[in-house]
Formats: sequence, structure tokens, C-alpha cells
Amino acid sequence: MPAVLRAVLILSVTLLAACGEPEDTRPGQPVKQRQQAFKDIIKSFEPMGVMLRKGSYDAERFEKFTAELVAKRDLPWSHFGPDTNYPPTKATAEVWSQPEAFAKEKQGFLIATDKLQAAVAGKDKGQISAAYETVHDSCKSCHKQFKAR
Ligand code: HEC
Repeated sequence: MPAVLRAVLILSVTLLAACGEPEDTRPGQPVKQRQQAFKDIIKSFEPMGVMLRKGSYDAERFEKFTAELVAKRDLPWSHFGPDTNYPPTKATAEVWSQPEAFAKEKQGFLIATDKLQAAVAGKDKGQISAAYETVHDSCKSCHKQFKAR
């Protein structure tokens, strides 16, 4: 394919990804709010993973991000009310059909973040790294069943 055509194609795919999502027009915008809450969570979570992977671990910065994560960890859940399964959500219908399983995943995430906080207080990098992975696993475990791809 000629380069120009390919560039146009890539551009239109990018634009589609940006504009293809319907706006959340419902009162209170529950879908948008919970998506924003997850985006805020990842903003504190991801930099810790970067530090661990790139060997740029800085105890003080890490501690700050952990505190942020703990401060934000309760924010998404109240926005998963009944009748809030509509576009642009990426949640699966199982969030509402299997509420116990969803609550269990959420609990696992909260416990994992408690352990991360405890590990950070203990200042042992090996334990901090392991605890970070456990939190990561809890995100992935919930997404596997409850977030559409
Ligand atoms: C108990 C289940 C659960 C846990 C735990 C969980 N998530 Fe999610 N996450 C979801 C669901 C459900 C959605 C889809 C929300 C929607 O679109 O309505 C989602 C969406 C997201 C999104 C996409 C937001 C957007 O629309 O752009 C990001 C990013 C994300 N989660 C990051 C994380 C990270 C990072 C963690 C762990 C630190 C985590 N999540 C833990 C269930 C979970």
C-alpha cells in the first residue's frame, strides 16, 4: 500500500477511536464518572510499575503514589448503579448479573492495596515489588470477567 494511503488510513482509524464513542448524556453521567475514576487510579498506579520495571525506584515517590492509589480506590464503585449498563460503557453485563462475584473482585483489589500500603511502610523493596504485582493481578482478574475488550 502506498505510504500516503497508509497514512490516511492510520489517521482515520485514530480519529474513529477518538470520536467513535458516544457521550454519556444521562443525568450524573455514571459511566463517564466511573471511567474517569479508573483513569485516575491508573495515573497513580502505572508510574509505580514503571519505576519497578525500569529500575528507577524512588521510595519517596513510590510512597506518594501508593497513598494516592489508596485515596482513589473507592471512587469507581458507587457509579455502577442499576440501569447503568449503556454505551459508552466497557463493563460486561456480568457486573449486574453476577454482583457477588464482582464484589469479591473488588474486595480482592482493596485487600491487595492494603497489602501494598503495608509493604511500602515496611520499606522492603522485594516485598513492595511482590505486593505491587498482587495489585496488578487484582486489576487483571476483575477486567477478565467484568471489562469488555
Ligand atoms: C472489581 C473490578 C475491577 C477492578 C478491581 C479494577 N477494575 Fe478497572 N475497570 C473495571 C470495569 C468494570 C471497567 C469498565 C468501566 C466502564 O466502562 O463502565 C474498568 C475500566 C478500567 C479502565 C478504562 C477506563 C476508560 O474507560 O478509559 C482502566 C484504565 C482501568 N479500569 C484500570 C484499572 C486498574 C489500573 C486497576 C487496578 C489498579 C483496576 N482497573 C481495577 C473493573 C475493575
